[in-house]
Amino acid sequence: MSEKKVNVAVAGATGAVGNQMIRCLEEMDFPARSVKFLASSRSVGRTLRYKGEVVAVEELKEDSFKGMDIALFSAGGGTSEKYAPCAAKDGCVVVDNSSAWRMDPEVPLIVPEVNPAAIAQYKNKGIIANPNCSTIQMVVALEPIYREYGIKRIVVSTYQAVSGTGKKAIDELFDQTRAMINFLSYEKKVYPHPIAFNCLPHIDAFLDNGYTKEEMKMVNETRKILEDDTIGVTATTVRVPVFFGHSESVNVETRKPVSAADVRALLEQAPGIKVVDDPLHNQYPLATDAAGQDLTLVGRIRDDESIDNGINMWIVADNIRKGAATNAVQIARVLVDDYL
Ligand code: A2P
Repeated sequence: MSEKKVNVAVAGATGAVGNQMIRCLEEMDFPARSVKFLASSRSVGRTLRYKGEVVAVEELKEDSFKGMDIALFSAGGGTSEKYAPCAAKDGCVVVDNSSAWRMDPEVPLIVPEVNPAAIAQYKNKGIIANPNCSTIQMVVALEPIYREYGIKRIVVSTYQAVSGTGKKAIDELFDQTRAMINFLSYEKKVYPHPIAFNCLPHIDAFLDNGYTKEEMKMVNETRKILEDDTIGVTATTVRVPVFFGHSESVNVETRKPVSAADVRALLEQAPGIKVVDDPLHNQYPLATDAAGQDLTLVGRIRDDESIDNGINMWIVADNIRKGAATNAVQIARVLVDDYL
């Protein structure tokens, strides 16, 4: 364990992920000498709590990072693009939760259970990217399979919680649900269609190839994290009326022969995973069980009887915790212990 202490900034501290980053710093007893909480000018005057202390929210500015060692960013892609280089210039390493830097070849894209050694590449630009929430939980479950059996192809469909869109989307699901069950009119501000009692096959913007950006993030980020561009990945990402916890149906075709029993045994030993797979007793991963904790739950592990080396599974994790804040704080912890 490190005796070192570092100065930590959180950019986007008032948001859904930023707030959870602060809670994770507390829960993981992060070796912070000082904390600085940054948001837009709208939040100046607000205070946040850290380990019983009241901390004033400051406006994010170009010089906010002087004297800071690590900055956790979750304030949107544009904000990261503009301010992450300012932090890096002042010697403050950025762990960025937006998609702004993820595919930059000089920026490592890290899931600590999967590719911790790549963290060393932070020295290129002073920036480390935190992957997309749906990608993180999928690669946590797939990396042990990739290492033992190789992976030829992944077919994934997601069932994603509204908290991934931020605080306004949490309010929208709540307000629409309440309005609809009372036969009242409702507003659509965040999503183009009602999210209450609905499933929207539309996450982030549509691209020319007919896929959404979220779907292509799962394709490209999975290959980058597993360092293997030969893996075929195809995704359908769907927003569902769940507050916290993303669920995924994943079909994986391996290169070597594999069985559901092999995969179950392998994942039972793997870091960051809890196998919940006792269907006869109605035990399988649920968003309501994943929410509020840090493990990736894997169950419904079955042989795909339609191909030679195929496995089906159901993977669930808390998108705000392991899918965002926890993963970022885990990266920061490795930085402190092994690099700074
Ligand atoms: P603020 O609360 O002041 O708007 P969420 O994803 O839950 O909506 O949260 C987004 C976070 O990013 C909030 O903390 C928000 O601060 C912050 N943020 C958004 N735009 C900016 C900006 N231009 N500069 C600094 N922080 C920003």
